[in-house]
Amino acid sequence: MDEKKVMLSGIQPSGDLHLGNYLGAIKNWVDRTEEFDNYYFMADMHTITVRQNPADLRRRTLEQLAQYIACGLDPEKNTLFIQSHVHQHAELGWVLQCYTMFGELSRMTQFKDKSAKHKENINGGLFTYPSLMAADILLYQPDFVPVGEDQKQHCELTRDVAQRFNSIYGDVFKIPEPYIPKAGARVMGLTAPDSKMSKSMPEGCVFLMEKPEDIQRKFKRAITDSDTENCVHYDPANKPGVANLMSIYSAVTGRSYEAIEQEFAGCGYGKFKPAVGDAVVECLRPIREEATRILADKAYLENVYKAGAEKASYVANKTLRKVYKKIGFVAR
Ligand code: TRP
Repeated sequence: MDEKKVMLSGIQPSGDLHLGNYLGAIKNWVDRTEEFDNYYFMADMHTITVRQNPADLRRRTLEQLAQYIACGLDPEKNTLFIQSHVHQHAELGWVLQCYTMFGELSRMTQFKDKSAKHKENINGGLFTYPSLMAADILLYQPDFVPVGEDQKQHCELTRDVAQRFNSIYGDVFKIPEPYIPKAGARVMGLTAPDSKMSKSMPEGCVFLMEKPEDIQRKFKRAITDSDTENCVHYDPANKPGVANLMSIYSAVTGRSYEAIEQEFAGCGYGKFKPAVGDAVVECLRPIREEATRILADKAYLENVYKAGAEKASYVANKTLRKVYKKIGFVAR
């Protein structure tokens, strides 16, 4: 029997999960459950590169896990775990810092952006974050790493570091491929269709756990375009706001752009926007209800993250032991 290919990704529990995380990432993970051997984690260690409120971080980490499951990630078929529970991440992270160059880290656009945004806290972890991310990935020897466009540079650095290590010590790491969703799968902000949906622009961002009336309000106020056409037509270059709403509507209803154009022919944006809102509300309703139910069952959640960490550690440890041996650490 062929071994399944390995897929791995993580999301930082630094904010609540939103429609962009769901349609752009988690939904695709769910669809690939059977095809791959999957590892998905809450990247809590990454979040502390920016100051966090401890109680919020703890709450959001567990909520994120409950929401992963509610979105359809079956914990029996996907290894779901909390990054800080698998100590091999920190250990390999340290090793890989010693194989990542200062110049490489200095070129990371996320470091430049975040250090411009948090001038009072440009800490060492923010700078070496890509080495930890490389460790997150390489520990599991994945074939594919599904990430957003913004993480492509980190994935490329991961490949460079892995290749550098392999060229010194032989084949230790599999060189992973980033797996970037096509443009249509990228959800843009409702108030700013030129940048991706983000919690930093809350009025343009629909959270998975949000109340239906708030979701409706956000869709009603979504920026369509300042063309006078007032016509639902897919033209991302000239009508990015409408195209974004169409791509959301298409993702949640499964309808093609042509079918959507026909459905709303002659209707204008005044009818279209609330219809997208309704469709999103109905798509998120079962997820919200299921996440609420799971979150109330602390014992179940604990079972899931403990079993996940155990399985992840087992795999991660194999890689870490090999690395330690290669670099000359005495076996314990
Ligand atoms: N850096 C990623 C982000 O901010 C999160 C992340 C951490 C990640 N480690 C990872 C993603 C490993 C994929 C693989 O979105």
